[in-house]
Amino acid sequence: MDIVFRCGNLAQRPAGALVVGILKGERKPAGVAAEVDRAARGALSVLLARRDFSGAHADTAVLYPKGLKAKRILLVGLGPRAELTLHRVRLAAGAAARRARELRVGTVAIPALGGDRFDPAAAAQATAEGAVLGPWRFTAYRTKPGTPALKRIELVEPDRRQAAPLAAAVERGARWAEGVVLARDLTCTPGADLTPERLAQRAKEVARAAGASVEVLDVPAMERLGMNGILGVGRGSAHPPRFIVLERGPKAQRGKAPPTIVVAGKGVTFDTGGISLKPRDGLHEMKYDMGGAAAVLGLFAALPSVALPLRIVGLIPAAENMPGGRALKPGDVLRAMNGTTIEVTNTDAEGRLLLADALAYAKRYEGATIVDLATLTGAIGIALGPYVAGLFTRDDRLAAELLAAGETSGERLWRMPLWDEYDKDLESDTADVVNAAPSREGGACVAARFLEHFAGRQRWAHLDIASTAWAPADRPHERRGPTGYGVRLLLEWLNRKAAEV
Ligand code: BES
Ligand code: MN
Ligand code: ZN
Repeated sequence: MDIVFRCGNLAQRPAGALVVGILKGERKPAGVAAEVDRAARGALSVLLARRDFSGAHADTAVLYPKGLKAKRILLVGLGPRAELTLHRVRLAAGAAARRARELRVGTVAIPALGGDRFDPAAAAQATAEGAVLGPWRFTAYRTKPGTPALKRIELVEPDRRQAAPLAAAVERGARWAEGVVLARDLTCTPGADLTPERLAQRAKEVARAAGASVEVLDVPAMERLGMNGILGVGRGSAHPPRFIVLERGPKAQRGKAPPTIVVAGKGVTFDTGGISLKPRDGLHEMKYDMGGAAAVLGLFAALPSVALPLRIVGLIPAAENMPGGRALKPGDVLRAMNGTTIEVTNTDAEGRLLLADALAYAKRYEGATIVDLATLTGAIGIALGPYVAGLFTRDDRLAAELLAAGETSGERLWRMPLWDEYDKDLESDTADVVNAAPSREGGACVAARFLEHFAGRQRWAHLDIASTAWAPADRPHERRGPTGYGVRLLLEWLNRKAAEV
């Protein structure tokens, strides 16, 4: 799909559909809508005056008036003016573009929705993101042609003075959404076709395209570093684990490392639970247990769109959690990379074993800020439901930064406690810690506290994205299934940082 900026008059565009945003309760077309209405000889005025379209958020309606160069007008509701946010702009654009695809439209012309209420560039970026994400579908395994993809989206703005910033914003929105699309496509890919080796291969492709370097540690290399958490999880599988390291940005100068951000993503390409086998219902969804890794790769794919004076490091511990003759057994003890011993009381609590080594590995980037993303616990969904991920950190400033980025991106976070008391649940009869508490209460918090034993004193935040990496139902900007959660959140966070330093 092409997504381009066009300086011009929306009403005059020859497109498959002109998108017009309507606020709830709007009885007379205003702004761009008024121009389209004039060109359409009052078709919009009649519709609104008769209250046949309420402007309810993400609702759509289609008109076929004479006198336009475009084939149709596609109205999309923006909801009440007072409730309009950039995320609601993104959702409305998603709903409009999805409807356009269902109508087999080739080219959509759309204004920056909410452009009179927000910074026009921010509105244009959110509109572009929604327009790419709404119509997205995963079709790699379908043999029958479904509705064809949109060919082209034009974001149209008449004011010449806005042309340069809006063109840049549209470009940025398109790149960010493409990062999300990459993350979704990877996450949708079945476990058989996305083993740890294949994930490493994909990471190399992403790194090459993004001008990043990449290093892939195989089993002997991980053995040399003592990464027994990752090796332990991978032992039951015919597909050996990998540790993937991506790096982009300025190199060390005169021996001084540049300011560094480390983003680590859980990459369990399939989670059966191992010997502590999961029940069968819904098990196929456990191909999405690499959603954290997918977010890291989606971020790297989009990094060239953010001018950053920072070094960004991506860490992906990748393994397949399988039962098997060599698999980890409940009761086994592992020595993680930092020397801490772990009694594996439940082989299904495997994500934290991978992250233990990734967080210990991150210590080589002294002074770095670390954020990990992991589909870590079912408990986070029990605590928060499917619209928000859990944020765990002791660092109030980092928390504030991430929470703010979550609001703008619509990839929301909610702060969760990270207290020493949870250690009680991690006491082992045999080793330094157990990997799974006997009780399920506070499971997401106990898991986070487990990770802290390996993150140590680093500036670190953990995002439990098990609640958000997979949507239980369609939403305007995402379908039931993998969401690519985290890509836009991280980009927004880094983009704000770029403005600071
Ligand atoms: N990958 C799962 C967590 C998960 C559950 C993600 C549901 C998405 C949806 C993780 O590896 C896991 O199995 N966690 C266990 C931890 C428990 C054994 C302490 C869980 O949540 O049940
Ligand atoms: Mn598991
Ligand atoms: Zn898992």
